[in-house]
Amino acid sequence: MKLTGNTMLVTGGGSGIGQALAWRFHDLGNTVIVAGRGVARLGETIKGRANMHALALDVGDNGSVAAAMDLLKLDFPALNTAILSAGIMTWQELGRGGDIGTAEEVVNINLLGTMRTAEALIPLIAGKPNAAICTVSSGLGFVPLPAAPAYSASKAGVHSYSLSLRQRLKGQVEVIEIPPPAVRTGLTPGQETREGYMPLDAYIDETMANFEREPGAQENLVANVLPLRFAEKNGTVAEMLDHLGSF
Ligand SMILES: NC(=O)c1ccc[n+]([C@@H]2O[C@H](COP(=O)([O-])OP(=O)(O)OC[C@H]3O[C@@H](n4cnc5c(N)ncnc54)[C@H](OP(=O)(O)O)[C@@H]3O)[C@@H](O)[C@H]2O)c1
Repeated sequence: MKLTGNTMLVTGGGSGIGQALAWRFHDLGNTVIVAGRGVARLGETIKGRANMHALALDVGDNGSVAAAMDLLKLDFPALNTAILSAGIMTWQELGRGGDIGTAEEVVNINLLGTMRTAEALIPLIAGKPNAAICTVSSGLGFVPLPAAPAYSASKAGVHSYSLSLRQRLKGQVEVIEIPPPAVRTGLTPGQETREGYMPLDAYIDETMANFEREPGAQENLVANVLPLRFAEKNGTVAEMLDHLGSF
């Protein structure tokens, strides 16, 4: 992916990984539009930054995605890139009658939300110079965390969808998957200070360094995510699942 000269949409851009990447890309001189449901957080994110804009968007809602795309088409005709970082994570206890409502919400936002946004964006960006979409999956899409089964499944889905998208959009839109490891953000309560999780700044530094070192890479992998990403190849899935199952 080209790191400069873009007009970029960042969903989930009002906090955490999305916000930090949005700021880094803005620092590099890109025009950046941060999108999410929390308009106040978006306002804080763009404060004092020229060429940074906020957009109300609920990726879980077809109407909201359509309205946001209409606005992007009108106001940002140069739009050529996106980072789809919007997501939620919830805990669910398995084998206790099933919390299908929670699972539906997680899948609707994380997997269908990624699909909804990407599908709506493609007609706006396909064929434009340096068009690119970054999906945000998770190390847990490769070995699940049994305490967050719908979340893990939704991220396995984002990985699979990213492969399909890349194949179909070859030559028109570059598709890059970003599967973060455990990072200190507000994704779940208490996560911002959780022991053993990667500090957000360190994660973003390594992610941006990866983009710079290997601009054509299909996946942006920091060192901490490699054990999960390649567990199947390494024959360590059962061992890692036992470990993750203890949480
Ligand atoms: N932090 C980690 O350890 C980790 C690890 C692997 C993967 N990830 C992934 O990284 C991405 C970013 O997470 P994060 O850690 O940065 O947590 P975060 O700070 O909670 O960021 C998630 C963002 O998504 C937005 N969002 C949630 N639902 C949305 C919806 N329906 N429509 C639009 N925006 C929505 C939230 O804003 P609003 O609520 O205001 O809409 C929030 O800004 C997520 O996809 C997450 O699954 C994180």
